[in-house]
Amino acid sequence: MNASRGCGSQTIFFELASTKTGIVYPLEMKRLGILTSGGDAPGMNAVVRATVRTATAHGVTVSGYLDGYTGFVAGEFVELDDRAVGNIIQRGGTILGTSRCAEFLDPAVRKAAAEQMRAEGIDGLLTVGGDGTLRGALELWQECGVPVAGITGTIDNDVYGTDETIGFDTALNTALLAIDQVRDTSQSTGMMFFVEVMGRTSGAIALHTAVAGGAAGVVVPEAHDEIGVLIEQLRQSIERGKRSHIIVVAEGDEAGGAFAVAEKVGKALDHPYRVVVLGHIQRGGRPTARDRLVAAEAGAMAVEALLAGRSGFMVGRKDGKSVEVPLSEVVAHKHSPPNVSLLSLAQRLSG
Ligand code: F6P
Repeated sequence: MNASRGCGSQTIFFELASTKTGIVYPLEMKRLGILTSGGDAPGMNAVVRATVRTATAHGVTVSGYLDGYTGFVAGEFVELDDRAVGNIIQRGGTILGTSRCAEFLDPAVRKAAAEQMRAEGIDGLLTVGGDGTLRGALELWQECGVPVAGITGTIDNDVYGTDETIGFDTALNTALLAIDQVRDTSQSTGMMFFVEVMGRTSGAIALHTAVAGGAAGVVVPEAHDEIGVLIEQLRQSIERGKRSHIIVVAEGDEAGGAFAVAEKVGKALDHPYRVVVLGHIQRGGRPTARDRLVAAEAGAMAVEALLAGRSGFMVGRKDGKSVEVPLSEVVAHKHSPPNVSLLSLAQRLSG
């Protein structure tokens, strides 16, 4: 077997990595592991399905670790064959379970888990999640020589190196449905509504739903001091006779979320208001066609690349195509900023 399989800038020599770490992974892969980690995202199941079906077509078996890195550390997994991943493409959440595993931050724990994986005869690992999950994958690759492929699965759309993360489109549409419904009552009653959407450090969901939902304003962590401008704009539009006002607030805004923003704005305008916090509703539900398509392509591509001898990459989206991006590049940038120009677009179109 040629030790230098693979091609391009991500060519990886498993033997070199193995020499460095002392854990020997074979060049020929017969069994892959997969885990879903961090906050669940609609479309994760579609990734698992695509991964398993692509692997089995190559005569490779797949083991699914339970509850993310928690199951990886504990060595808890189930065998996934073509039938085990039937009827899941349309389901939100993840059939494998997920967690945020603090234990995995310890390099000694990672090394022991990598050795355990190798001893089980699992030759490569696919990890599906957000930036924390991908960072964990890179550490497994760099420190322990585990052949890894990352796939983005997070509603936040804040991973560097990809235009969209799996789950974002579904979360957007879920939030949008809620905003449309809130608008009915806002129009009927004349009350102002502050709708809080998810995104601990990212305003991506807020910005996109604000434009798509025709919001009167949007408050996000990436913009500062926007409340004063918002109050002035709302004052003018109330004077012009506008009845329905939706203000989308990203949960991570420094002003402190929708309740805090609502109190400031509502008081300043002396106008009746209500607050709606969408919360985890945005994480669940049937994945959209877009998320399923992206997930299917990413799962298939990640398996093909691993079997071709490449490792240490994430499958992301660039210019409408699935592409491999080195994980080292992804984690070198903490977050990918959203399109903040959507803020002024929402303001300009709010009427
Ligand atoms: O990262 C996805 C996400 O849904 C964020 O938008 C949100 O801030 C966070 O997870 C909530 O996490 P948890 O479910 O652990 O409270």
